[in-house]
Amino acid sequence: MSKSIVLLPGDGIGVEVIHEAEKLIDCICDLYGVEIKTEKHLVGGASLDASDIPVKDEVIEACKKADAVLLGAVGGPKWDNNPPEKRPEKALLRLRKDLGLYNNLRPVTVFSSLKNASPLRPEVVDGVDLLVVRELTGGLYFGQPKEIIEKDGEEVGIDTMTYTVTEIERIAIAAFEAAKGRSKKVTSVDKANILASSQLWRKTVTRIAEQYPEIELEHMLVDNCAMQLIRNPSQFDVILTENMFGDILSDEAAMLTGSIGMLPSASLGDGTGMYEPVHGSAPDIAGKNMANPLATLASTALMFRYSLDEESIASDIEAAIAKVLNAGYNCMDMSRHARKVLSTSEMGEKIIETLKDIHAA
Ligand code: IPM
Ligand code: MG
Repeated sequence: MSKSIVLLPGDGIGVEVIHEAEKLIDCICDLYGVEIKTEKHLVGGASLDASDIPVKDEVIEACKKADAVLLGAVGGPKWDNNPPEKRPEKALLRLRKDLGLYNNLRPVTVFSSLKNASPLRPEVVDGVDLLVVRELTGGLYFGQPKEIIEKDGEEVGIDTMTYTVTEIERIAIAAFEAAKGRSKKVTSVDKANILASSQLWRKTVTRIAEQYPEIELEHMLVDNCAMQLIRNPSQFDVILTENMFGDILSDEAAMLTGSIGMLPSASLGDGTGMYEPVHGSAPDIAGKNMANPLATLASTALMFRYSLDEESIASDIEAAIAKVLNAGYNCMDMSRHARKVLSTSEMGEKIIETLKDIHAA
């Protein structure tokens, strides 16, 4: 059966890393006999340059029709001073909202060969394998009112943190379901000592937990969680949290691995899923064949798992990545911890070569 994928390279290194994903997908079609049609569209700064809008309606429609979307990165200094509606990041927020992608999964795995790469001591990060389940279409990012107004003779900036029971329930269910296939522990992170939305969050998550007696649930305040991630990250299995807390904590958790350059993500909802590396467009190294494509290739694996129903392809890609890392290869961002440093395209080719070996074995 033929599947269709929309590729959204975006800006900066997004273009280079998506190119490597394309090569990998081509190879997978040959190797595993699957048929995948890809189409490519502009988003972010690239779309602003071409049509003065961060993402066109027809691109959103193409994404809705596809089986999955693979995105590189958006943004860059060229567009940093644009007004809010003309910022590249707006494309991401629209895609998330319009595709209903409320469930953002960000797995953080410390590979044993890279436990020295973290700024934390190796014995602190060794064995870390956690999953941040971030609510992605609610909270401060989308709550209304959201504006700058004039009040008592000065400007006032307003953002609103709102959560409905329905929004909390569905992301809680996603976290408990994810925990089933892992170490069966959910840490729900909130600020229930201060925020009304967090009090509702805690009450709702506690109620949903009753349907999952086999899963251990603990509640943790977000400031404490930020500390515990550094103090003892191995205590975590699934971290369930709202949009803004998840944004911050997932960058913090990323550093346990030594580089944000290796972390994949999946954004899921009721329709098409979207997959993207956690890193940004890295304008400083864009176009230099220096970016680490592993986060995008790992995101491609997640795409095969969650949207294309090809678990064995997903686990073969993940096995290829682990094998290449354990053999001492890595990219510039991890150069101090690699026996051999590869360029973007060399890493892409190394993964393909290794996948072929794994498939043949
Ligand atoms: C992320 C990013 C985005 C976010 C930005 C680029 C809008 O930081 O995916 O974590 O804040 O969600
Ligand atoms: Mg972020």
